Amino acid sequence: MFLDLAKKRYSLRTYQDKEVERDKILAILEAARLSPSAVNKQPLHYLVVTNKEQRQKLVDSYPRDWFKDAPVIIVVCLDHSKSWVRRDGKDHGDIDGGIAIANMTLAATDLGLGTCIVCHFDSKKVEQDFNLPSHMEAIALLPVGYPTTDDIPEKKRNSIDELTTWIE
Ligand SMILES: Cc1cc2nc3c(=O)[nH]c(=O)nc-3n(C[C@H](O)[C@H](O)[C@H](O)COP(=O)(O)O)c2cc1C
Repeated sequence: MFLDLAKKRYSLRTYQDKEVERDKILAILEAARLSPSAVNKQPLHYLVVTNKEQRQKLVDSYPRDWFKDAPVIIVVCLDHSKSWVRRDGKDHGDIDGGIAIANMTLAATDLGLGTCIVCHFDSKKVEQDFNLPSHMEAIALLPVGYPTTDDIPEKKRNSIDELTTWIE
């Protein structure tokens, strides 16, 4: 059931030193590929970084002890030359990115893997280090790997009453 999967997903910050099988990475990318985007513009591109030296560049953009242990880091890149911009100027690329990232995190969970969405990184440094053209923005890093524990932390969330207004 979908809600069981949503409950199982959490931000994993302890990764096993174990390679992730290529078919599992491909399944996560397939979940991203299938995600919807505004006007079906599909403005996202993914750098799948497994090489240790290249991963270190990403760790330098987000220097945290736990982050360096992830065997795979997916850089989610938004192509602003492709994303849909509404008449009032609002660029919908970040929404497209959020949906794709959500799909990827859930797919990873379904495969027994863990992830953590990372946005608190030096995106300019990543864009330079990976030679992204000026219309491409690195919007998130997604470490992927096997969890070191089966425990799922309790979710701290506001109640449905707090976050909902019913207009009937
Ligand atoms: C847009 C976004 C950016 C985030 N950036 C970071 C980050 O830079 N570092 C980090 O450790 N967690 C980051 N997180 C993870 C959140 O802290 C986490 O999702 C939230 O505390 C809820 O916990 P849960 O994912 O375990 O349910 C981010 C999550 C989102 C949705």
